[in-house]
Amino acid sequence: MDQRPIGVFDSGLGGLTAVRELCRLLPGEDVVYFGDTGRVPYGSRSQETIIKYARQDVAFLRTFDLKAILIACGTVSTTALDVLSAENPIPVMGVVEPAARAAARLTRSGNIGLIGTQTSVRSGAYERAIQAENPAARVTGQPCPLFVPLVENGRFRPGDIVIETVAAEYLAPLKAAGVDTLVLGCTHYPLLEEVIAACMGPGVALVSAGAEGARAAADFLRARGALSGRADGGACRFFVSDRQEDFARLASIFLGRDVTEAVELTDISQY
Ligand code: DGL
Repeated sequence: MDQRPIGVFDSGLGGLTAVRELCRLLPGEDVVYFGDTGRVPYGSRSQETIIKYARQDVAFLRTFDLKAILIACGTVSTTALDVLSAENPIPVMGVVEPAARAAARLTRSGNIGLIGTQTSVRSGAYERAIQAENPAARVTGQPCPLFVPLVENGRFRPGDIVIETVAAEYLAPLKAAGVDTLVLGCTHYPLLEEVIAACMGPGVALVSAGAEGARAAADFLRARGALSGRADGGACRFFVSDRQEDFARLASIFLGRDVTEAVELTDISQY
């Protein structure tokens, strides 16, 4: 048994899609979350900058005595997982392989769509991971760079004409390709799940990288006997690098409980 918290981070709100699943699966675990709201989005930045930011995010989280870190960010997972794993003595897990496994399991036709940030799609990491699971799979990738800023600004609800217009344009090539499974390869995108599902239609299975990453992390910790042993009562602390109130408001909506008191500000440039 291990009472230490699990560290989770993302460039902003997106990693909450992993936290929500982690708390559902493991209600007895403590979680420390960092959302880099002062520097979001990461997905259009260079590899060097993403690695630099991710190292600072991990250095901040490691000021807590953690048992493991979940990179709840597709962009950091596709760009910096190996670097972060090699540099840290605790397990560091990403979202790419878990999402790829789920997509390979769900597809019937082998025709899989991938949406993510420019960096994630360009990296080819999801494609490689999907093809490692199912060599016959065809992957059609589509970057959706406007999704993250829209989500961070609370524009994720069905009926919002801006997000619906942007989604229709981004998703058109994937509909035309006839994919039967769509990987939401950026952890922000499950906040748009209803909008994306309505656009893609009922025959397309959606895979949330955040939720799959959380499931894999839960399985990993359980298999190592590293859970807290508590059935419930786990606490979540949230840290952000800017706009604490905006984060608290949107996080409370998404998590379905008021987390305002649990959100704190940190100066990430110190780490
Ligand atoms: N949630 C991050 C991801 O999964 C968003 C990246 C960004 O900040 O652009 O890729």
